[in-house]
Amino acid sequence: MRVRVNGAVHRMEVDPRVTLLDTLRERLDLTGTKKGCDRGQCGACTVHIGGRRVRSCLTLAATTDGREVTTIEGLAKGDRRHPMQQAFVERDGLQCGFCTPGQIMSAVGMVNEGHAKSDDDIRERMSGSICRCSCYPFIVEAIKDAQKVMR
Ligand code: FES
Ligand code: FES
Repeated sequence: MRVRVNGAVHRMEVDPRVTLLDTLRERLDLTGTKKGCDRGQCGACTVHIGGRRVRSCLTLAATTDGREVTTIEGLAKGDRRHPMQQAFVERDGLQCGFCTPGQIMSAVGMVNEGHAKSDDDIRERMSGSICRCSCYPFIVEAIKDAQKVMR
């Protein structure tokens, strides 16, 4: 397969049963994308494919042939954090940080979809991303801050 990940083209052979999550972490050393449940239930593995948020634990790597994948490592521009990353830092939107890459990738996708119109919208559309440290109120505030800059 040939896939572009965070702007870099990779050509590799993959077992058709292997997930994108395992390929990112184990073949490309992109360990920012986390493996939480590995069953599509926690959102820790969220990445973007063609700009849309997806769960990489439920995506077979082979299906990304010819596609553009963005992971948390690809969000910043050089030393400059993405506005969503900056807002999570400023709003203390994390404690242990395990869920944070997935939360941020999902939040960026949601804002780009144009769906984050109210706090309830944000909570509903981020409901697939579980935070065991219960940072939810700070995450909502961070998303609202970042949204103003991203528009
Ligand atoms: Fe993919 Fe939990 S690891 S949804
Ligand atoms: Fe610990 Fe979310 S910050 S799980």
